[in-house]
Amino acid sequence: MATAHKAPDVARDGAAAAAVVTDITELEAVFDAAVAADERIEPRDWMPDAYRATLVRQIAQHAHSEIIGMQPEANWITRAPSLRRKAILMAKVQDEAGHGLYLYSAAETLGVSRDELLDKLHSGRQKYSSIFNYPTLTWADVGAIGWLVDGAAITNQVPLCRCSYGPYARAMVRVCKEESFHQRQGYELLLALSRGTPEQHAMAQDAVDRWWWPSLMMFGPPDAESSHSEQSMTWKIKRHSNDELRQRFVDICVPQAESLGLTLPDPDLRWNEERGEHDFGPIDWSEFWSVLKGNGPCNEQRLTQRKQAHDEGAWVRDAAAAYAAKHSDHDKDRRPAAPGTPAEATA
Ligand SMILES: [Fe+2]
Ligand SMILES: [Fe+2]
Repeated sequence: MATAHKAPDVARDGAAAAAVVTDITELEAVFDAAVAADERIEPRDWMPDAYRATLVRQIAQHAHSEIIGMQPEANWITRAPSLRRKAILMAKVQDEAGHGLYLYSAAETLGVSRDELLDKLHSGRQKYSSIFNYPTLTWADVGAIGWLVDGAAITNQVPLCRCSYGPYARAMVRVCKEESFHQRQGYELLLALSRGTPEQHAMAQDAVDRWWWPSLMMFGPPDAESSHSEQSMTWKIKRHSNDELRQRFVDICVPQAESLGLTLPDPDLRWNEERGEHDFGPIDWSEFWSVLKGNGPCNEQRLTQRKQAHDEGAWVRDAAAAYAAKHSDHDKDRRPAAPGTPAEATA
């Protein structure tokens, strides 16, 4: 953490302790220098309002995606074909809840409450990733989500481990390790199906056919149309553009699809010797915008289930709060009185 860009009421270290930074231009210069030097910005450091707002928007959207993303796969927990698969899927869905918790906690360090963020999700004022508005029609979809959706998430999130905002970057380190397990279990699941009966192979291929293009859309609109990208790159919240990350993902997936014995549903997909990357076909952005506007196959279902789960969980939150309050009173009773404190003050 940079000690030189604390909030105005916090004195600088050492001999300069008397010099309190009050001038906004100076604060901005110190912030810019810290970002340029690849230092982490921490919650108590001064930061521009727009930087804070961008982080809140991005971290909230990310947190919402984690918890909404539990739904499509949780649909299959009771129908997993073996105890082993069921245990793996339960662990994965539980991990996603954990990712939501790390991220809501990271957002809270920016001065917003979790209640406020959930309220914005439930009222449609904040978004979650459009990918989770697609249905999981067969068991193979669990594999395709792990391989492609978690795979795209890793490609997006590994650079976020170096994000300029400390709490977000640190949350991403653990999230990425767990996403890596998710991606592998999906790949392994698809491999088992691909090498299974002709019906199982066809099921795996069908899932990949349906999830491939929405996975490419996960990286967001093309760079030319991405409204937040440039500023986020300057602030080092983002390290690579949407199109760069999408290209990286395509290049990773092509050899993996070959090993799986599955075909990616794009007739234009081919290696471009000159560019040293794969060319791929045009993405149907009208579908992306339509799903984002709420017209995807499952938008309504996802939000309705989320709100229902939230309402039905009210008693758990109440009980947890009552338990915490009771124990904090209990701890207070047992804490030794400060020297000189009159006995009745601690009774
Ligand atoms: Fe996750
Ligand atoms: Fe995941």
